[in-house]
Amino acid sequence: METYKRRPVEFVEGRGALLFDADGKRYIDLLAGLAVTSVGHSHPMVVDAIAEQAGLLMHVSNLFYTRPAAELASRLHELTGMKSFFCNSGAEAIECALKLVRRWAGTATPGSVPRIIATEGGFHGRTMGSLSATGQPAKQAPFAPLVPGFTHVPYGDAEALRAAMGPDVAAVLLEPIQGEAGVIVPPDDYLPAARGLCDEFGALLVLDEIQTGLGRTGTWFAYEHSGVRPDVMCLAKGVAGGLPMGVCLATDGAAAFQLGDHASTFGGGPVPAAAALAVLDVIAKEGLVERSATLGERLKELARTAFPEAVEVRGRGLMVAVEFDAPVAGDLVGAALEAGVVINDPAPNVIRMLPPLVIAERELDEALSTLGEVWRSMPSA
Ligand SMILES: Cc1ncc(COP(=O)(O)O)c(C=O)c1O
Repeated sequence: METYKRRPVEFVEGRGALLFDADGKRYIDLLAGLAVTSVGHSHPMVVDAIAEQAGLLMHVSNLFYTRPAAELASRLHELTGMKSFFCNSGAEAIECALKLVRRWAGTATPGSVPRIIATEGGFHGRTMGSLSATGQPAKQAPFAPLVPGFTHVPYGDAEALRAAMGPDVAAVLLEPIQGEAGVIVPPDDYLPAARGLCDEFGALLVLDEIQTGLGRTGTWFAYEHSGVRPDVMCLAKGVAGGLPMGVCLATDGAAAFQLGDHASTFGGGPVPAAAALAVLDVIAKEGLVERSATLGERLKELARTAFPEAVEVRGRGLMVAVEFDAPVAGDLVGAALEAGVVINDPAPNVIRMLPPLVIAERELDEALSTLGEVWRSMPSA
């Protein structure tokens, strides 16, 4: 079906932060498949884990125990103190979180729907529940009626959030940094304020770390920058190195599902779970969390040099956007691709860079130098 607007390139191979197209042309990947291939394309440890597990056992269903899923739940518990539900995508992790919130809130007042506050510009996925949480009316309108019970408030505005709170609010759902909206970093006191309001009103704080999690922003999870912890957290994208996997995590107090409440045939299958264990090993072994923090500062500096006319260069770790005062992003992405650098344009005046966390410094330097040349050759520069 014609749902994707694709660029005219067919990629056939990837290695680390490099991609190669069908003609053998080399590209530096500053997008990582939309924050997915964080440990690089076809990392040998991930490839070996997948191959070994695929040769041993690929699927038996969640009617039985399997070692990779059990180990993964245990590793994620060590990192977060939370229990995991495994699924297959970001949207599914959000669906799980939404059901969990409804289950946790209970059915105290029959006929009333416990409210979930989400944010304008926020992006949580395209399934009916996650789309209803997504604060982008243009994406929602063709699919009305949506799932009821969502209120959207301006992002980063703690006062607006306070004004929307009430006894019927079961949860506040936020991205710690809005990704698809163009890498919007909220004020430092925003997450602490959201945590405080959730505690005050007896609601759950649900963080969508699907794009920001697993080292992307220079900490294991972006909430660590704020000093507060969520009750529920969603992960996906980079978790299994490129294989589909989503995780909904919850504290003991929030993990309200009863037997049979939720399920997924493929969720936590042995192969993606083995890949995810290898991804966690690579992140730890290669120091990728710290690397993301250090290289992120370098990336912002290089971006300021490449685009001196930019309105703003912003982001945390290796999640960086450049905003312009005109809708030049689409043309810039196209010209960059021709010049061998992969980026994307979350908004008409914003380009975004989410490179693999393993990218070499010289590759980052080369990519930004190329982007600067491309920009200077554009009529709008
Ligand atoms: C913050 C956030 N939440 C949810 C999603 C949806 O994930 P998926 O495309 O795997 O359903 C995305 C995807 O871009 C995202 O960035």
